[in-house]
Amino acid sequence: MLLLVLLLELTVVILFFAYTDKIDKYAQQDLRDGLHLYGTEGNIGLTNAWSIIQTDFRCCGVSNYTDWFAVYNSTRVPDSCCLEFSDSCGLHSPGTWWKAVRDPPGPRPDPRRPQ
Ligand SMILES: *[C@@H]1O[C@H](CO)[C@@H](O)[C@H](O)[C@H]1NC(C)=O
Ligand SMILES: *[C@@H]1O[C@H](CO)[C@@H](O)[C@H](O)[C@H]1NC(C)=O
Repeated sequence: MLLLVLLLELTVVILFFAYTDKIDKYAQQDLRDGLHLYGTEGNIGLTNAWSIIQTDFRCCGVSNYTDWFAVYNSTRVPDSCCLEFSDSCGLHSPGTWWKAVRDPPGPRPDPRRPQ
């Protein structure tokens, strides 16, 4: 069972990595709706997946950390959003959280295929 959960999470992470460039605004809205399930009962897989994604990809939320404000009704984010993880660090200021899904420093090679 644990292995299955790990495999599922790995799949989510890989899919996220593969498709993050192509996620359109409708998918983004879906993901934002999904944020509301974070940390709720029966959604451990989703909760863990967000934690892993945010930690591994150094991101916070779907577009940025403001996506979490709607979830918590306040200016806080999950601890996995923190540049330096510590308990309840998600209650600190935005300056201590990841800024964006991807924060490319300057231009990066992006071989976009013609549509
Ligand atoms: C976060 O993303 C939203 C939607 O893309 C944008 O309107 C907003 O300005 C961004 N905020 C910050 C702090 O980057
Ligand atoms: C956020 O606000 C909505 C509407 O006011 C409420 O239904 C919901 O329970 C609140 N959520 C939290 C986490 O406080």
